[in-house]
Amino acid sequence: FESPNGEKYRSEYHFTPKTGWMNDPNGMVYINGDYHLFYQYYPDSTVWGPMHWGHATSKDMLRWEHKPIALYPDSLGYIFSGSAVFDLKNSSGLGTAGNPPYIAIYTYHDPVGADSGSNTFQSQGIAFSLDEGKTWKPYDENPVLESPGIADFRDPKVMNLPKEDGRDNWIMTLAVKDEIHFYESSNLINWEKIGDFGKNIGAHGGVWECPDLLQFTAPNGEEKWVLLVSLNPGGPQMGSATQYFIGDFMDGKFIPDDDLIRWLDYGPDNYAGVTWSNVPESDGRTLFMGWMSNWLYAQVVPTKTWRSAMTLPRELSLFDVDGTLLVKSKPSEELLSLRNQTFHISQSSPLPGQAFELEAEIDSNTFSFKIENNSGEEVHFSKENGLVTVDRRKAGKSNFHPDFAASHSAPMSWEANELRLFVDANSIELFINDGELVMTSLVFPESPYTQIRIENGLEDLKIHSLDPVMKSTD
Ligand code: FRU
Repeated sequence: FESPNGEKYRSEYHFTPKTGWMNDPNGMVYINGDYHLFYQYYPDSTVWGPMHWGHATSKDMLRWEHKPIALYPDSLGYIFSGSAVFDLKNSSGLGTAGNPPYIAIYTYHDPVGADSGSNTFQSQGIAFSLDEGKTWKPYDENPVLESPGIADFRDPKVMNLPKEDGRDNWIMTLAVKDEIHFYESSNLINWEKIGDFGKNIGAHGGVWECPDLLQFTAPNGEEKWVLLVSLNPGGPQMGSATQYFIGDFMDGKFIPDDDLIRWLDYGPDNYAGVTWSNVPESDGRTLFMGWMSNWLYAQVVPTKTWRSAMTLPRELSLFDVDGTLLVKSKPSEELLSLRNQTFHISQSSPLPGQAFELEAEIDSNTFSFKIENNSGEEVHFSKENGLVTVDRRKAGKSNFHPDFAASHSAPMSWEANELRLFVDANSIELFINDGELVMTSLVFPESPYTQIRIENGLEDLKIHSLDPVMKSTD
């Protein structure tokens, strides 16, 4: 297990950089059969530094191919988080009608300006690709959107939203301090502010980052808008987390249905997640991936040659609990392709290695079980009195940060009927009722968990060993 080359804790089926530091997923765009993933990347160290966009592609969001770095820091600054779109009508003029461009929209962070105390060190730039996302060239006249003098001005998520008369139109959702600003553009180059959102609503324990604006059909057929907003710090489990709002969006105004604070994932380790753009209409899914860490301890977790993994890909949709809409995060169906051997178990049972999935029915809305190894390390899972708990206090190594060893609970007032648990070398993702409640947690056991012990409430248990599709040697 302790491999000679410092690969302990390397995920077997989650995306990790080969070496170096990674944070947020960026520029996720689907291009002719390939899911492209870019990510905040510092190749020269395992802690945060001058940001690049790393790059990888996959046919299924699980089996990734590493690609050359797509964007390097330049004279305008580091390349912070952002998004990518297909400019089908060549509205930017950066391609041709016959070869329309893909456009990446990202934040420039000028480290010199930041150090000198100026408030204008973050601006938005674009880059374009004329070879289906393989290579990217920053636009000559960057930045395309300068800072209005607010220090935190970043993470543009752009979507195509044609005007009623059919004219091409782009909406940029931008995190500005602890609010969201909306901009619009007909060409992805000239941006005009059309609205803002966030005063006196939502959680404000930290700065707002990495927003995403999404359209869904609710179970009752109504069209609804969802605004994802990552928050750091100020999450429900300390540190980083992603909240969201449900409502309507029109003419640059996001009008929330209510003032409930909703969290996308109640675990401590899913941050800065956004969705893929340009997914074909014939597919129609809203596909999400997050950074599986937390700024509280991301830079000190005990991996050696790289830091951080992405969450599993998840399909977002709306569901209804007694008249209140919530977002559900279902494990993407591609995950079924990782299943190798299936074991039907009843009570305690050995586990088939460090990468597996547990599926179970919950018989009376409460349950309790644990996974453990021979050195007394364990993670305990339960639902009781309307609270789902993942207790990682004794999960393994935790001395790298005082807040890591903790027990995390989430309210779930409605009935839990079934669960799926995905375990990998250093992570645990618990999905109840196909993702109506999700908790994502990092764990660092000294050796893999070898045994599952059912205490009560679960039946029809299946354990699937999962194929190691992302070994570091790939
Ligand atoms: C979120 C974040 C973004 C920023 C990036 C910098 O984790 O802080 O707001 O663009 O990371 O790496």
